[in-house]
Amino acid sequence: MEIKTDFLILGSGIAGLSLAIKAVDLGSVAIVTKKEKIESSTNYAQGGIAAVQAETDSFDSHIEDTLVCGAGLCKIDVVKFVVEEGPERIRELVDWGVQFTRTKDHPDRFDLGREGGHSARRILHAHDLTGREIERALSEMAGTKPNICIYENHFAIDLILKSRIPGQAITGSDRCLGAYVLDILRGEIHTFRARFVILATGGTGKVYLITTNPDIATGDGVAMAYRAGARIANMEFIQFHPTCLYHPEAKAFLISEAVRGEGAILKLKNGTPFMDKYHPMKSLAPRDVVAQAIDTELKKSGDEYVLLDISHRDRNFIIGRFPHIYARCLEFGLDITRQPIPVAPAAHYQCGGVAVDACGESSIPGVFACGEVACTGLHGANRLASNSLLEAVVFSHRMFLRMKERFPSVAEDLVPIPAWDPRGATESDESIVVSHNWDEIRSCMSNYVGIVRSDKRLERAARRVELINREIDEYYRNFLITRDLLELRNITTVAGLIVKCARLRKESRGLHFNINYPERDDERWLKDTVLIQPSHDRGNFSNPLAI
Ligand code: FAD
Ligand code: SIN
Repeated sequence: MEIKTDFLILGSGIAGLSLAIKAVDLGSVAIVTKKEKIESSTNYAQGGIAAVQAETDSFDSHIEDTLVCGAGLCKIDVVKFVVEEGPERIRELVDWGVQFTRTKDHPDRFDLGREGGHSARRILHAHDLTGREIERALSEMAGTKPNICIYENHFAIDLILKSRIPGQAITGSDRCLGAYVLDILRGEIHTFRARFVILATGGTGKVYLITTNPDIATGDGVAMAYRAGARIANMEFIQFHPTCLYHPEAKAFLISEAVRGEGAILKLKNGTPFMDKYHPMKSLAPRDVVAQAIDTELKKSGDEYVLLDISHRDRNFIIGRFPHIYARCLEFGLDITRQPIPVAPAAHYQCGGVAVDACGESSIPGVFACGEVACTGLHGANRLASNSLLEAVVFSHRMFLRMKERFPSVAEDLVPIPAWDPRGATESDESIVVSHNWDEIRSCMSNYVGIVRSDKRLERAARRVELINREIDEYYRNFLITRDLLELRNITTVAGLIVKCARLRKESRGLHFNINYPERDDERWLKDTVLIQPSHDRGNFSNPLAI
């Protein structure tokens, strides 16, 4: 089946929904999302969204904190406009129905939280369930627009480029015509044809064994864009969140940095605080510093976790400010108002991604990327806490303005798109291969491409990833595709990109620490690592259109 739309948005987190709500004023919108519409990293965001609000705060201070955290690699113009356009985008979220927590004394004022690397209170939040509140409000708002059609349980497989359609001679630049999409419940593959295609597919935490991310985070957007020939940048900068609940039954539950913002202290198992050895901001230092410090202490002691202690704060304050974290920890027998919380770092955020310009357009004309999938230049080598939700709303607005300007001149391309051709693929009799390779890739990345890296470990990882990549390519060619297989193919591609970027960068900066080059080297490495798939690799699949 071929489905036509003006805007094809892949993903229904904050990036996809906030764009859809605006783009629908220009034309029809199809949102393709691989699970239920609210299932996204957005839905799990705790701490909040950073934006200058207080009279005592300033744009300059937010800009400076972002630049310091980004360790020299942020694009200054991008940092400036994201910070300066932030308050306007917050007003819009509020107009769309997002209810941020207000102060008790002044209900017209937002209660502002603080997180690592921020020199002021500037985090708007909805208690400790900010993402759930944003996702609720945006989904409800999108639901009121009849011209937004949401396809749940639909998995975008690959972008369709005009140049890859047999018989199409391209003069000038290439064009993306849409995407092939698997209807997971029916097992059918549809063609979505669109004037604009937007990747809003989120991050890639599932590349690692322990991650704060939900299951959807398998790097699909980056993998699709790479296969289509887009520029991919800075994939070595994977952010590990320092404080994930350490408990055998808790599936990497995040303990928000806002807990440290309210005075929680990191301690060794014997109760000794240790962050004063690592940074003047102690437990509220930027994330790269805190995660590396915890990693160092754990290696020294042989322990599996450190402690995060907020029990010195008033019990009612803790329960009122962090109701979700309090309740979840209590389910595991842990009363955080009385006991310190065992925590360890977990993969959390991808700072690199599909390289885009100041309006979110990738190097493939007509293909845009927004949210965690994109590399905008805001985060540099390490993202400042709560700048991710902010980046998504600022860029979706800028992207909308670019599309609005271009919309009248971008006609629908009538080139016939061949339907997906399975080319004799059969049902797999060995699906166990998929789960084995899935485990192997995640163990390999966790063991060799984690917080602390070395040339030797990266080389080992490169060899293993390459081998698995070849196996999966063959599997992909011969067997009917399933969601699991597509995700495995994508995490393997993305693992390869992370390793490649990490091997290119011969220094340590921000989130990339290599013991063979422990120093930051501004003379040689004050630049992005950029990857583009060599064109001769591109036809390496059974279906020539599957890229
Ligand atoms: P997501 O919200 O992840 O949405 C991605 C969407 O794409 C999903 O709908 C998914 O189903 C869909 N999708 C993916 N692949 C496909 C495919 N192949 N086909 C179809 N659909 C697809 N950031 C902050 O700024 N502040 C915070 O407090 C904060 N807390 C966080 C807490 C947790 C536990 C986590 C995991 C992250 C947190 N972050 C926070 C980061 C932030 O939540 C994310 O970076 C942000 O929400 C990403 O939004 P997004 O719209 O780009 O992607
Ligand atoms: C948190 O609440 O600690 C997460 C904030 C973020 O990732 O920006």
